[in-house]
Amino acid sequence: MTGVLITGGTGKTGSTLAGLLRESGVPVRVASRIPPADAPDAVRFDWSDSATHPAALHGMDRVYLVPPVDTTDPMPLVLPFLAEAERLGVRRVVLLGSAIVLPGAASALELAAHVRARPGWVVLRPSGFMQNFLAPHPLGERIRRRGEIRTAAGTGRVGWIDARDIAAVAAVLLAEPDGPLDDRRDFLLTGPKALNYQDAAQIIAIHTGRPIRIVPVGVAEQADAYRASSMPDAFATALAAVDAGIQTGRHDQISTAVLDLTGCPPRAFPEFVQDHAPQWANAEAPED
Ligand SMILES: NC(=O)c1ccc[n+]([C@@H]2O[C@H](COP(=O)([O-])OP(=O)(O)OC[C@H]3O[C@@H](n4cnc5c(N)ncnc54)[C@H](OP(=O)(O)O)[C@@H]3O)[C@@H](O)[C@H]2O)c1
Repeated sequence: MTGVLITGGTGKTGSTLAGLLRESGVPVRVASRIPPADAPDAVRFDWSDSATHPAALHGMDRVYLVPPVDTTDPMPLVLPFLAEAERLGVRRVVLLGSAIVLPGAASALELAAHVRARPGWVVLRPSGFMQNFLAPHPLGERIRRRGEIRTAAGTGRVGWIDARDIAAVAAVLLAEPDGPLDDRRDFLLTGPKALNYQDAAQIIAIHTGRPIRIVPVGVAEQADAYRASSMPDAFATALAAVDAGIQTGRHDQISTAVLDLTGCPPRAFPEFVQDHAPQWANAEAPED
């Protein structure tokens, strides 16, 4: 059998990718820590349980790789998995990397370099996800509960991308084991326009009728808020520090890769907001 193992297969990009590949008749195997018993193409897969890795890979010639989330050091878990993938003859790996490298997360860069160095293996580097503005992401949760965005990013802009467009790119690259690829092994993926939090708040307000406040905070305060949302300590610190990079303009960039690879322009933020408008409806919030 050949097909695509989709790690993170229940997540924001992986679930959309599974749907797109199924529609195209590509066999998929959807990895999850808790696979539904009634889904024949689901497989149990846990990064922290290496015994689940060989069975998930067996018979698959392509892999969509979503590294372990909530860690700044994915290499110890992912390298043995990739060694097994190479041993089993996997021809294409598409890594969900990131354009926004967390401070202190050199391991993520090493992982991207490792993948890029293999012929036919590819790294996607998406910018910030538009889906961060939705619950359960802490940013989206705060908008929904309190109608506010707390940010240490000032007016710095990000080339926000809709996770559905990342999945569309991955679907093109995974449709065949040796599918279209020029010399590039690394794709920066963004939406069509970079926006700051003030722009985003205004667009959400226009399309939902709900005003969204911007509350400037410091990086340390932001890290505390992430910790309070039960994020691991080091990850919360690193994620909060991203705001400082946004403020300097480091993530104010856009690319044409979604259009180049899929033939469709990436979704703009207003379209994303329209598609999800009911999810920002007012919610009762306990005081904190
Ligand atoms: N959010 C952004 O702005 C952004 C920007 C650039 C890059 N990224 C990257 O996108 C990736 C996905 O992040 P996300 O927050 O959007 O998550 P997500 O893909 O929506 O969900 C996480 C996925 O990981 C799986 N998972 C969690 N723990 C696992 C474990 N121990 N073993 C195996 N699978 C596990 C979950 O599956 P089950 O629960 O079913 O096991 C779920 O499918 C991250 O690597 C992040 O660096 C995010």
